Amino acid sequence: MKIGIFGTGMVGQALASKLAELGHEAVVGTRNVAETLAKTQPDGFGNPPYSQWAAQQPKVKLGSYADAAKHGELLLNATSGNGSLPALEAAGTANLNGKILLDIANPLDNSKGLPLQLYVCSSDSLAEQLQRAFPGLKVVKTLNTMNAALMVNPQLIDNGEHQVFVSGDDADAKQLVTAFLRGQFGWKHVVDLGGLATARCTEMLVPLWVQLMVTMQTPMFTLKIVK
Ligand SMILES: NC(=O)c1ccc[n+]([C@@H]2O[C@H](COP(=O)([O-])OP(=O)(O)OC[C@H]3O[C@@H](n4cnc5c(N)ncnc54)[C@H](OP(=O)(O)O)[C@@H]3O)[C@@H](O)[C@H]2O)c1
Repeated sequence: MKIGIFGTGMVGQALASKLAELGHEAVVGTRNVAETLAKTQPDGFGNPPYSQWAAQQPKVKLGSYADAAKHGELLLNATSGNGSLPALEAAGTANLNGKILLDIANPLDNSKGLPLQLYVCSSDSLAEQLQRAFPGLKVVKTLNTMNAALMVNPQLIDNGEHQVFVSGDDADAKQLVTAFLRGQFGWKHVVDLGGLATARCTEMLVPLWVQLMVTMQTPMFTLKIVK
């Protein structure tokens, strides 16, 4: 399948590696291809620069956001929260219309330290903002509540006995995303929370997730629903 991934960070890289390994054709979108390839320093979390990662991923192509959107039959948003609207604007409405977007981004406000704050929450969400701005896109919020490695390999923890959530207004899109998460990434438990407004709930879990990471000094954990 042809897949467009917006975002060159650790999430974009984890998604692209896994999808290429599965035989999909992935194009990763960035603001400026030359600048992204020229980076030589690790990011703020110590992840290697994009070009170092890309050298091990000959099947993954890098392009503009518009290139990734044009290429993708399915689109994944792994840009920073405040970069998501600009990324979709750069991708272009015509390249987005009619397509499904798995929105993984979180509206983090990193300027105020811990506990982490969100710049939109409770009465709105980043996912809804994207959907309102691009009504021709079918936004499905998912995968935003765990770390990048776990998104594409849920078996890394508890033999995969934990949940991923989906929120979206288009029932067919949500069904397709659910099948994709199960079939491609191996998720056993996909919980449909309802319409896209329920993305507010999963985005609001993220400050707790970050606080747990700080407290436990590891990102290799997840929140699990136990009945
Ligand atoms: N890291 C995790 O494990 C994790 C877990 C769950 C959810 N998330 C969410 O997933 C998203 C990606 O996280 P990440 O850690 O991989 O990377 P990130 O550092 O949050 O985002 C990097 C990407 O955002 C793009 N970007 C930043 N500002 C932009 C702007 N003004 N306009 C357009 N694009 C812009 C960058 O573009 P360039 O390529 O041009 O630099 C880059 O591709 C975030 O929203 C994060 O909250 C992350």
